[in-house]
Amino acid sequence: MPYEMIVTETDGAVAVIRLNRPESLNALCDQLMSELADALRGFDSDKSIRCIVLTGSDRAFAAGADIKEMQNRSWPETGLDDFIGKSWEVVTTTLKPVIAAVSGYALGGGCELAMMCDIIIAADTAKFGQPEIAIGVIPGAGGTQRLTRAIGKSKAMEMILTGRMMDAEEAERANLVARVVPAADLMPETMKLARRIAGMSPVALLQAKRSINAAFETMLAEGVRYERASFLPLFGTPHQREGMAAFIEKRKPDFS
Ligand code: CAA
Repeated sequence: MPYEMIVTETDGAVAVIRLNRPESLNALCDQLMSELADALRGFDSDKSIRCIVLTGSDRAFAAGADIKEMQNRSWPETGLDDFIGKSWEVVTTTLKPVIAAVSGYALGGGCELAMMCDIIIAADTAKFGQPEIAIGVIPGAGGTQRLTRAIGKSKAMEMILTGRMMDAEEAERANLVARVVPAADLMPETMKLARRIAGMSPVALLQAKRSINAAFETMLAEGVRYERASFLPLFGTPHQREGMAAFIEKRKPDFS
C-alpha cells in the first residue's frame, strides 16, 4: 500500500514510522490512521523487525483526531461507522515493542496514540494534553483510562477537565514518559533504545510486554497469575537456554 500521510523506513531490526501531515500538525484523520494500521500490521508480521518507533515532526507528534473531519459527525453514525475503532486498536494489539518518540504537540488523540505505545521518549519541547473538553467532547481513544493509570486520578482529572497542556518536564515527573532528552537527541536516543530492545529475545519481549500490559488491564492477583502463565513456558525455549548459558559463560547472548 503506497502511503501519503506516513513515511516508513527500517534500520536493521528497527522500523520507524513517521506521521507526515505537516499542514495540519499530523491531525489523525481516517486515512492517516488506516495507513498507520497497515504499516504496523506489516512490521508486526515481518520477522526481520523486532522493535517499532513511531514519531512525528519537530513541531507535532500529533495534534489530535482531525477536528475538521469529525466536526459534522453525529450519533448513531459514529457508532455504526466504528469511529476511532479498529484502525486505532491496531496500535494496542501490535505484538512487538512500540516506542513513541514525541516532539512538540501530543494532544487529544495524539496524546492517546503516544500512550497506546509501550514506551514514550519525549523531546524537551514536547507538550502533552487532552484538550477535547475545550471542543465539547471528551477523550475518545482511551485517554480517560490510560492517562489516569499513568499519572493518577487527581492529575488526570485536572488535565482532562481543564484541557491544559503539560510540558515534558512535568510529564516525566508525573510518570507519563520514560525519559526526556534534548530535542536534537530525540531520534538518536530513541534509536539507541530501540536497537537495544531489538537485540533481546523476541519471545521474551513478547511475554514481558504482555505481562506488563496485564498490570494495566487486570486486577493485581489476576495480573500476577497472567505473568506466571507467560513466564513458565519461556523455560526450554532456545533463547532461554542461550541467554542463561551466555550469562554463565560470560559472553554476549546470540538471540538470532
Ligand atoms: N484537527 C484538524 N486540524 C488541526 C488540528 C486538529 N486536531 N490541530 C491543528 N490543526 C490545523 C489547524 O487547523 C491549522 O490549519 P490551517 O492552517 O488550515 O488553519 C494547522 O493545523 C496549524 O494549526 P494552528 O494554526 O492552530 O497552529 P498553532 O501553533 O497556532 O496551534 C495547537 C497549535 C495548539 C496544537 C492548535 O492547533 C490546537 O489547539 N489544535 C487542536 C488540538 C485539539 O483540540 N486536539 C484534540 C482533537 S479531538 C480528539 O483528539 C478526540 C479524541 O480523543 C480521539
